[in-house]
Amino acid sequence: MSSAEDLPLQCVPQHVAIIMDGNGRWAKAQGLSRLEGHKQGAKRLRDVIRWARDAGVKQVSLYAFSTENWKRPKLEITGLMTLMATMLPLEVPRMIKENARMLVLGDVSKLPWFARRALKKAVEATKDNTSIDVILCLNYGGQQEIVEAAKHFFESFDNDKERALAFANLTPETLYAHMGREAIFPVDLLIRTGGEKRISNFHLWDAAYAELYFTDTNWPAYTEEDLQEAIADYVGRERRFGKTSEQIQGVADE
Ligand code: IPE
Ligand code: IPE
Ligand code: MG
Repeated sequence: MSSAEDLPLQCVPQHVAIIMDGNGRWAKAQGLSRLEGHKQGAKRLRDVIRWARDAGVKQVSLYAFSTENWKRPKLEITGLMTLMATMLPLEVPRMIKENARMLVLGDVSKLPWFARRALKKAVEATKDNTSIDVILCLNYGGQQEIVEAAKHFFESFDNDKERALAFANLTPETLYAHMGREAIFPVDLLIRTGGEKRISNFHLWDAAYAELYFTDTNWPAYTEEDLQEAIADYVGRERRFGKTSEQIQGVADE
């Protein structure tokens, strides 16, 4: 198998999204607490930024806390928020050194103040960096994102007549423009670690045509080889977006 570093750059996915799952199961297997699993998982996050950048990926989005994760035990939620708030300031110098920019997706207004403060500082300190975007998805839900876009669309008109006309002519492209994802490329490759084969409300809109890749490796045990394998698998696929293979290969009429 070729490594991702040997692949022509134009084939490499621009935006890789990762559902970082399996922290709890990994910890259980080691006889550790779930929180220790999250701690080890957070360390992989640091590595994956470097691996993705070295592979030529331009954006990596990381599912760190879903809108459904509020249903977890209070202690685990507090542990996750505290972990993020303590790890982020330690990661910022590394991100600056690696020229990585941090962006955030999700309704962070619902996070505890100390987590919001750490996020704000990380985003501010890295805002001019250009080598890779790290999109931290926190209190993120794909369904909520689409609902918010619909609300935003509805509230963007001065009067009911304009609104009714726009609604009658509403297209996916128009609604997408209200999602606030101007800085974000469509997801090319969506990876889920930890063995489950579901999307769990991540990037629902983009899941329409993202290439999906599932691995049994739990997130704390994820390696550079795992990422390279996923990218190589992606490169070997033919993305047809509804067309025929012949059209894609240019041997049939457009
Ligand atoms: C993913 O690992 C991290 C978060 C959802 C925050 P899990 O905590 O879901 O780990 P498992 O699925 O229980 O093993
Ligand atoms: C998805 O993992 C969310 C994150 C990785 C942050 P979950 O462990 O919450 O997903 P389900 O509940 O198994 O679908
Ligand atoms: Mg899980």
